[in-house]
Amino acid sequence: MSTKLEIHGLTKKYGNQKVFDNLDLSIEDNEFFVVLGPSGTGKSTLLKLIVGIEQPDAGQIILNGKDITGLPPNKRNIAMVFQNYALYPNMSVFDNIDFPLRMHKIHGIRKKVEEAAEKLNISDILKKNVTRISGGQKQRVALARAIVREPAIFLLDEPLSNLDARIRFSAREELKRIQKDLDNTFVFVTHDQSEAASMADRVAVLHDGKVEQIAPFADLYENPKTEWLGDFIGNYPMNFLPGNVTGEPEKIRIGFRSEWLVEDDSGVEVTVEAMEIAGDTYFLFCRTGGGDPLVFKTLKKRSPGDKLKLKVTRYNRYENGSLVA
Ligand SMILES: Nc1ncnc2c1ncn2[C@@H]1O[C@H](COP(=O)(O)OP(=O)(O)OP(=O)(O)O)[C@@H](O)[C@H]1O
Ligand SMILES: [Mg+2]
Repeated sequence: MSTKLEIHGLTKKYGNQKVFDNLDLSIEDNEFFVVLGPSGTGKSTLLKLIVGIEQPDAGQIILNGKDITGLPPNKRNIAMVFQNYALYPNMSVFDNIDFPLRMHKIHGIRKKVEEAAEKLNISDILKKNVTRISGGQKQRVALARAIVREPAIFLLDEPLSNLDARIRFSAREELKRIQKDLDNTFVFVTHDQSEAASMADRVAVLHDGKVEQIAPFADLYENPKTEWLGDFIGNYPMNFLPGNVTGEPEKIRIGFRSEWLVEDDSGVEVTVEAMEIAGDTYFLFCRTGGGDPLVFKTLKKRSPGDKLKLKVTRYNRYENGSLVA
Protein backbone atom coordinates (compact mmCIF):
# COMPACT_ATOMS: atom_id res chain seq x y z
CA MET A 1 0.00 0.00 0.00
CA SER A 2 1.23 3.45 -0.84
CA THR A 3 1.53 5.91 2.01
CA LYS A 4 2.38 9.57 2.11
CA LEU A 5 2.19 11.64 5.26
CA GLU A 6 2.19 15.41 5.10
CA ILE A 7 2.18 17.85 7.97
CA HIS A 8 1.38 21.49 7.32
CA GLY A 9 1.80 24.41 9.70
CA LEU A 10 1.63 22.27 12.81
CA THR A 11 1.50 24.31 16.01
CA LYS A 12 1.25 22.81 19.49
CA LYS A 13 1.32 24.60 22.81
CA TYR A 14 1.32 23.32 26.37
CA GLY A 15 0.29 26.36 28.41
CA ASN A 16 2.75 29.09 27.44
CA GLN A 17 5.27 26.66 25.99
CA LYS A 18 5.25 26.34 22.20
CA VAL A 19 6.48 22.85 21.35
CA PHE A 20 5.85 23.26 17.60
CA ASP A 21 5.61 26.49 15.72
CA ASN A 22 4.27 26.18 12.18
CA LEU A 23 6.12 22.92 11.47
CA ASP A 24 6.07 21.37 7.99
CA LEU A 25 7.08 17.83 7.16
CA SER A 26 6.53 15.43 4.30
CA ILE A 27 7.21 11.72 4.56
CA GLU A 28 7.34 9.54 1.46
CA ASP A 29 6.05 6.07 0.81
CA ASN A 30 8.13 3.20 2.24
CA GLU A 31 10.60 5.50 3.88
CA PHE A 32 12.51 4.72 7.03
CA PHE A 33 12.11 8.26 8.28
CA VAL A 34 13.93 9.29 11.45
CA VAL A 35 13.04 12.33 13.54
CA LEU A 36 16.10 13.34 15.54
CA GLY A 37 16.20 15.84 18.36
CA PRO A 38 17.57 16.39 21.84
CA SER A 39 15.41 15.38 24.80
CA GLY A 40 12.38 17.62 25.25
CA THR A 41 12.23 18.88 21.65
CA GLY A 42 8.82 17.31 21.10
CA LYS A 43 9.55 13.98 19.41
CA SER A 44 6.96 12.04 21.41
CA THR A 45 4.51 14.92 21.07
CA LEU A 46 4.91 14.85 17.28
CA LEU A 47 4.04 11.14 17.14
CA LYS A 48 1.09 11.62 19.51
CA LEU A 49 -0.25 14.35 17.23
CA ILE A 50 0.12 12.11 14.18
CA VAL A 51 -1.57 9.15 15.84
CA GLY A 52 -4.28 11.40 17.26
CA ILE A 53 -3.92 11.12 21.03
CA GLU A 54 -2.93 14.79 21.19
CA GLN A 55 -4.62 17.64 19.29
CA PRO A 56 -2.71 20.46 17.56
CA ASP A 57 -3.53 24.13 18.12
CA ALA A 58 -3.19 24.72 14.38
CA GLY A 59 -2.15 22.89 11.24
CA GLN A 60 -3.14 19.79 9.28
CA ILE A 61 -2.05 16.19 9.16
CA ILE A 62 -2.70 14.63 5.76
CA LEU A 63 -2.44 10.88 5.19
CA ASN A 64 -2.60 9.79 1.56
CA GLY A 65 -4.27 13.02 0.57
CA LYS A 66 -6.93 12.82 3.29
CA ASP A 67 -7.04 15.34 6.14
CA ILE A 68 -7.06 13.21 9.31
CA THR A 69 -6.45 16.06 11.77
CA GLY A 70 -9.89 15.80 13.36
CA LEU A 71 -10.20 12.01 13.33
CA PRO A 72 -10.03 9.93 16.54
CA PRO A 73 -6.98 7.60 16.80
CA ASN A 74 -8.92 4.43 15.92
CA LYS A 75 -10.06 5.95 12.61
CA ARG A 76 -6.56 6.88 11.44
CA ASN A 77 -5.07 3.50 10.57
CA ILE A 78 -1.77 4.47 12.20
CA ALA A 79 0.05 2.22 14.68
CA MET A 80 2.39 3.56 17.34
CA VAL A 81 5.00 1.73 19.41
CA PHE A 82 5.40 3.72 22.62
CA GLN A 83 8.65 4.75 24.30
CA ASN A 84 7.93 2.36 27.20
CA TYR A 85 6.19 -0.28 24.96
CA ALA A 86 2.94 0.07 26.98
CA LEU A 87 2.24 -3.69 27.14
CA TYR A 88 -0.67 -5.01 29.23
CA PRO A 89 1.15 -6.49 32.21
CA ASN A 90 -1.28 -9.23 33.18
CA MET A 91 -1.57 -10.78 29.75
CA SER A 92 0.42 -13.26 27.75
CA VAL A 93 2.49 -12.27 24.74
CA PHE A 94 -0.24 -13.72 22.49
CA ASP A 95 -3.02 -11.73 24.17
CA ASN A 96 -0.97 -8.55 23.98
CA ILE A 97 -0.44 -8.90 20.24
CA ASP A 98 -4.00 -9.98 19.66
CA PHE A 99 -5.54 -7.16 21.73
CA PRO A 100 -5.95 -4.53 18.97
CA LEU A 101 -7.50 -7.14 16.67
CA ARG A 102 -10.07 -8.15 19.26
CA MET A 103 -10.78 -4.46 19.91
CA HIS A 104 -11.51 -4.00 16.23
CA LYS A 105 -13.37 -7.33 16.02
CA ILE A 106 -11.08 -8.57 13.27
CA HIS A 107 -11.39 -12.25 12.29
CA GLY A 108 -8.71 -14.82 11.54
CA ILE A 109 -6.83 -13.55 14.57
CA ARG A 110 -4.73 -16.57 15.48
CA LYS A 111 -3.16 -16.74 12.05
CA LYS A 112 -2.32 -13.03 12.01
CA VAL A 113 -0.73 -13.19 15.47
CA GLU A 114 1.26 -16.28 14.51
CA GLU A 115 2.50 -14.65 11.32
CA ALA A 116 3.62 -11.51 13.14
CA ALA A 117 5.30 -13.59 15.84
CA GLU A 118 7.12 -15.52 13.14
CA LYS A 119 8.36 -12.32 11.50
CA LEU A 120 9.73 -11.11 14.80
CA ASN A 121 11.11 -14.40 16.02
CA ILE A 122 8.95 -14.62 19.13
CA SER A 123 6.81 -17.67 18.24
CA ASP A 124 8.25 -19.63 21.15
CA ILE A 125 7.21 -17.13 23.84
CA LEU A 126 3.59 -16.53 22.81
CA LYS A 127 2.25 -18.20 25.98
CA LYS A 128 4.55 -16.34 28.38
CA ASN A 129 3.34 -13.51 30.56
CA VAL A 130 4.87 -10.25 29.33
CA THR A 131 6.25 -9.49 32.79
CA ARG A 132 8.52 -12.53 32.35
CA ILE A 133 10.24 -11.55 29.10
CA SER A 134 13.35 -9.47 28.36
CA GLY A 135 13.48 -5.88 27.15
CA GLY A 136 14.35 -6.96 23.63
CA GLN A 137 11.43 -9.37 23.59
CA LYS A 138 9.07 -6.66 24.90
CA GLN A 139 10.16 -4.43 22.05
CA ARG A 140 9.30 -7.19 19.56
CA VAL A 141 5.92 -7.84 21.17
CA ALA A 142 5.10 -4.12 20.94
CA LEU A 143 6.10 -4.13 17.29
CA ALA A 144 4.11 -7.33 16.59
CA ARG A 145 1.07 -5.68 18.16
CA ALA A 146 1.50 -2.84 15.67
CA ILE A 147 2.09 -5.17 12.70
CA VAL A 148 -1.11 -7.21 13.15
CA ARG A 149 -3.17 -4.10 12.60
CA GLU A 150 -1.67 -3.71 9.12
CA PRO A 151 -1.55 0.06 9.52
CA ALA A 152 -0.86 2.55 6.74
CA ILE A 153 2.16 3.77 8.69
CA PHE A 154 4.19 2.85 11.80
CA LEU A 155 5.28 5.36 14.42
CA LEU A 156 8.08 4.23 16.73
CA ASP A 157 9.06 6.25 19.78
CA GLU A 158 12.68 5.46 20.70
CA PRO A 159 11.95 1.72 20.68
CA LEU A 160 15.59 0.74 21.15
CA SER A 161 16.55 3.06 23.98
CA ASN A 162 15.68 0.55 26.71
CA LEU A 163 17.85 -2.18 25.23
CA ASP A 164 21.41 -2.78 26.33
CA ALA A 165 24.14 -1.75 23.91
CA ARG A 166 24.84 -5.19 22.46
CA ILE A 167 21.25 -6.04 21.52
CA ARG A 168 20.68 -2.48 20.34
CA PHE A 169 23.06 -2.92 17.40
CA SER A 170 21.44 -6.11 16.14
CA ALA A 171 17.98 -4.66 16.82
CA ARG A 172 18.76 -1.79 14.45
CA GLU A 173 19.53 -4.13 11.60
CA GLU A 174 16.50 -6.22 12.41
CA LEU A 175 14.15 -3.24 12.45
CA LYS A 176 15.49 -2.09 9.13
CA ARG A 177 14.93 -5.58 7.71
CA ILE A 178 11.38 -5.70 9.10
CA GLN A 179 10.58 -2.34 7.55
CA LYS A 180 11.81 -3.54 4.14
CA ASP A 181 9.90 -6.79 4.62
CA LEU A 182 6.65 -5.06 5.49
CA ASP A 183 7.22 -2.65 2.63
CA ASN A 184 5.78 0.10 4.78
CA THR A 185 6.60 3.56 6.08
CA PHE A 186 8.31 3.86 9.48
CA VAL A 187 8.57 7.12 11.39
CA PHE A 188 11.17 6.48 14.04
CA VAL A 189 12.04 9.11 16.64
CA THR A 190 15.26 9.16 18.60
CA HIS A 191 17.78 11.43 20.32
CA ASP A 192 20.56 9.02 19.26
CA GLN A 193 22.42 10.14 16.13
CA SER A 194 24.00 6.76 15.56
CA GLU A 195 20.51 5.25 15.20
CA ALA A 196 19.67 7.93 12.64
CA ALA A 197 22.96 7.33 10.85
CA SER A 198 22.54 3.56 10.68
CA MET A 199 18.84 3.25 9.83
CA ALA A 200 17.39 6.36 8.22
CA ASP A 201 16.62 6.91 4.57
CA ARG A 202 16.12 10.54 5.59
CA VAL A 203 16.43 12.36 8.88
CA ALA A 204 14.48 15.39 10.10
CA VAL A 205 16.22 17.34 12.84
CA LEU A 206 13.94 19.15 15.30
CA HIS A 207 15.09 22.45 16.76
CA ASP A 208 13.16 25.29 18.37
CA GLY A 209 9.74 23.97 17.37
CA LYS A 210 10.67 23.57 13.71
CA VAL A 211 12.41 21.18 11.36
CA GLU A 212 15.95 22.50 10.95
CA GLN A 213 16.81 20.25 7.98
CA ILE A 214 15.60 17.07 6.29
CA ALA A 215 18.26 15.01 4.51
CA PRO A 216 20.02 11.65 4.44
CA PHE A 217 22.37 11.50 7.43
CA ALA A 218 25.54 11.80 5.33
CA ASP A 219 24.26 15.10 3.88
CA LEU A 220 23.42 16.40 7.34
CA TYR A 221 26.95 15.59 8.40
CA GLU A 222 28.74 17.04 5.39
CA ASN A 223 26.50 19.95 4.47
CA PRO A 224 24.57 21.05 7.55
CA LYS A 225 22.29 23.92 6.56
CA THR A 226 23.04 25.92 9.68
CA GLU A 227 25.91 26.35 12.11
CA TRP A 228 23.62 25.00 14.83
CA LEU A 229 23.27 21.75 12.86
CA GLY A 230 27.02 21.55 12.23
CA ASP A 231 27.48 21.75 15.95
CA PHE A 232 24.72 19.24 16.78
CA ILE A 233 25.41 16.55 14.15
CA GLY A 234 28.52 14.38 14.44
CA ASN A 235 30.40 12.91 17.38
CA TYR A 236 32.36 16.15 17.45
CA PRO A 237 30.99 19.56 16.52
CA MET A 238 31.89 21.01 13.15
CA ASN A 239 34.81 23.47 13.33
CA PHE A 240 34.09 27.10 12.50
CA LEU A 241 36.62 29.86 11.75
CA PRO A 242 36.51 33.38 10.34
CA GLY A 243 36.52 33.20 6.54
CA ASN A 244 39.71 35.26 6.09
CA VAL A 245 41.72 32.11 7.00
CA THR A 246 40.99 30.84 3.48
CA GLY A 247 40.64 34.22 1.78
CA GLU A 248 36.83 34.44 2.10
CA PRO A 249 35.13 37.79 2.72
CA GLU A 250 34.80 39.00 6.31
CA LYS A 251 31.06 38.24 6.58
CA ILE A 252 31.70 34.53 5.88
CA ARG A 253 32.53 31.87 8.46
CA ILE A 254 33.93 28.61 7.21
CA GLY A 255 32.78 25.27 8.61
CA PHE A 256 34.71 22.01 8.33
CA ARG A 257 34.91 18.57 9.90
CA SER A 258 37.85 17.35 11.98
CA GLU A 259 38.89 15.02 9.13
CA TRP A 260 39.01 17.86 6.57
CA LEU A 261 42.20 19.18 8.19
CA VAL A 262 45.78 18.15 7.44
CA GLU A 263 49.10 19.15 8.96
CA ASP A 264 50.82 21.57 6.61
CA ASP A 265 53.34 24.38 7.12
CA SER A 266 51.08 26.79 5.22
CA GLY A 267 48.29 26.21 7.77
CA VAL A 268 46.99 27.94 10.89
CA GLU A 269 49.05 27.47 14.04
CA VAL A 270 47.18 25.76 16.90
CA THR A 271 48.05 24.42 20.33
CA VAL A 272 46.86 20.97 21.43
CA GLU A 273 44.85 21.25 24.65
CA ALA A 274 43.42 17.76 25.06
CA MET A 275 43.12 14.45 23.26
CA GLU A 276 40.66 11.59 22.85
CA ILE A 277 41.65 8.13 21.59
CA ALA A 278 39.29 6.14 19.32
CA GLY A 279 41.06 2.91 18.38
CA ASP A 280 44.03 3.88 16.20
CA THR A 281 42.70 7.41 15.71
CA TYR A 282 43.25 10.51 17.83
CA PHE A 283 40.93 13.46 18.15
CA LEU A 284 42.98 16.47 19.18
CA PHE A 285 41.21 19.39 20.81
CA CYS A 286 43.22 22.40 19.73
CA ARG A 287 43.02 26.19 19.97
CA THR A 288 44.11 28.80 17.43
CA GLY A 289 46.07 31.95 18.34
CA GLY A 290 42.78 33.82 17.93
CA GLY A 291 41.18 31.63 20.63
CA ASP A 292 38.95 29.52 18.32
CA PRO A 293 38.61 25.82 19.24
CA LEU A 294 39.40 23.22 16.54
CA VAL A 295 39.00 19.44 16.58
CA PHE A 296 41.57 17.61 14.44
CA LYS A 297 41.38 13.91 13.56
CA THR A 298 44.76 12.27 13.07
CA LEU A 299 46.60 8.96 13.28
CA LYS A 300 49.59 10.60 15.01
CA LYS A 301 49.70 10.69 18.76
CA ARG A 302 50.27 14.14 20.29
CA SER A 303 50.38 15.65 23.73
CA PRO A 304 48.76 18.70 25.31
CA GLY A 305 50.98 21.73 24.70
CA ASP A 306 52.17 20.54 21.25
CA LYS A 307 52.00 23.14 18.49
CA LEU A 308 50.78 22.12 15.01
CA LYS A 309 50.01 23.85 11.75
CA LEU A 310 46.67 22.81 10.28
CA LYS A 311 45.45 23.42 6.77
CA VAL A 312 41.77 23.28 5.82
CA THR A 313 41.41 21.06 2.74
CA ARG A 314 37.68 21.47 2.27
CA TYR A 315 35.00 23.64 3.85
CA ASN A 316 31.45 24.99 3.72
CA ARG A 317 30.63 28.71 3.81
CA TYR A 318 28.21 30.18 6.34
CA GLU A 319 26.73 33.65 6.48
CA ASN A 320 24.66 34.74 9.49
CA GLY A 321 24.68 31.11 10.66
CA SER A 322 23.29 29.66 7.40
CA LEU A 323 24.99 27.68 4.64
CA VAL A 324 25.66 29.60 1.43
CA ALA A 325 26.33 27.91 -1.89
N1 LIG B 1 1.07 16.55 28.57
C1 LIG B 1 1.98 17.56 28.66
N2 LIG B 1 1.72 18.68 29.36
C2 LIG B 1 2.59 19.71 29.42
N3 LIG B 1 3.78 19.71 28.81
C3 LIG B 1 4.10 18.63 28.09
C4 LIG B 1 3.23 17.50 27.97
N4 LIG B 1 3.82 16.57 27.17
C5 LIG B 1 5.02 17.11 26.83
N5 LIG B 1 5.19 18.33 27.37
C6 LIG B 1 6.36 19.21 27.17
O1 LIG B 1 6.58 19.33 25.78
C7 LIG B 1 7.95 19.25 25.46
C8 LIG B 1 8.20 18.12 24.50
O2 LIG B 1 7.97 16.88 25.16
P1 LIG B 1 8.20 15.49 24.45
O3 LIG B 1 7.89 14.43 25.44
O4 LIG B 1 7.45 15.47 23.17
O5 LIG B 1 9.76 15.55 24.16
P2 LIG B 1 10.71 14.41 23.58
O6 LIG B 1 11.49 15.03 22.49
O7 LIG B 1 9.92 13.19 23.28
O8 LIG B 1 11.67 14.13 24.82
P3 LIG B 1 12.44 12.74 25.24
O9 LIG B 1 13.62 12.64 24.32
O10 LIG B 1 12.87 13.04 26.63
O11 LIG B 1 11.48 11.62 25.14
C9 LIG B 1 8.68 19.09 26.78
O12 LIG B 1 9.18 20.32 27.18
C10 LIG B 1 7.62 18.58 27.73
O13 LIG B 1 7.88 19.04 29.03
MG1 LIG C 1 9.95 11.25 23.99
